[in-house]
Amino acid sequence: MNIYYFTGTGNSIAICRELRKHFEDAELRSIASFAGRTEIGDESDVVGFVVPTYYMDIPEIVGDFVSRLRLRPDAYIFAAIHYGLTYGRAFHSLNRILEAGGMKLSLGWGITVPDNSIVFKTALAKQPAMHLGMTETVSEFAAAVSDRRSVPLPGRNSAIQGLNSRMGAFMFRKVIGVDRKRVTDACTHCGLCSEVCPVNNVTVSEDSVVFGDNCAECFACIHWCPQRAVRFGFLKLTDKSQYTNPVVSAADVISQKDALSGIHGTS
Ligand SMILES: Cc1cc2nc3c(=O)[nH]c(=O)nc-3n(C[C@H](O)[C@H](O)[C@H](O)COP(=O)(O)O)c2cc1C
Ligand code: SF4
Ligand code: SF4
Repeated sequence: MNIYYFTGTGNSIAICRELRKHFEDAELRSIASFAGRTEIGDESDVVGFVVPTYYMDIPEIVGDFVSRLRLRPDAYIFAAIHYGLTYGRAFHSLNRILEAGGMKLSLGWGITVPDNSIVFKTALAKQPAMHLGMTETVSEFAAAVSDRRSVPLPGRNSAIQGLNSRMGAFMFRKVIGVDRKRVTDACTHCGLCSEVCPVNNVTVSEDSVVFGDNCAECFACIHWCPQRAVRFGFLKLTDKSQYTNPVVSAADVISQKDALSGIHGTS
């Protein structure tokens, strides 16, 4: 079994680790580590995806990766897509890309987790219960995967869902200002934002922090900054909105850039 994941603030890694308790032989593979590969072959008979929801859909980096992935036509494919409020059409988008390559998503499972989008922050008091709930949900999900269950995909695939997703992305990027990244004078030029960026979109020097135009919108740079110095347009962190998964470290997130990520052995 191979499980492909993508993360910014660690929820995917925490879910992967829970899944590994049920499937010890599963190999965790970082989507970010396959950057630049035009075609990725995988002969595994069971393949999973653990990815976040962005704008009521799958992240663009995930869609792009899946379109380059070549799986066995008879592979059993499952996805755990995590979200704070709603996953919208995420499962259907993933399936559409798989079907274009002659594959099919057999099982989709939504997992509620704390929301890292800052705009829709999850109350701190609710987060411990959510983390516990995630563990329980993964147990149910793992049982369904073990049984090779195939069920109708969660969510809807309507034109309205697509419109909602595009409008949400526009609001975040252009109005709220995710496309307008900068740092404040609180920045100590420690370099962590550059290290955690899964697509190497941040360059830190002694006197500047420069954001490129290749952002995967994972929000790692803003949440992991120890000084809360990163701003996305109007978005800034407070002690109520800064979020990273409590069992995941910055080093774990950085490791997703390695070829075949190093989160296998860690607990
Ligand atoms: C750009 C962006 C868009 C998001 N959009 C949604 C959304 O549409 N619906 C939702 O429920 N959560 C949304 N979220 C929250 C994330 O899906 C959620 O916090 C996820 O667990 C983060 O995963 P990670 O910790 O592995 O990076 C969004 C987060 C980001 C950064
Ligand atoms: S992580 Fe924060 S303090 Fe460190 S270089 Fe980046 S913006 Fe500056
Ligand atoms: S620039 Fe920030 S939000 Fe964009 S991909 Fe890099 S870490 Fe994620």
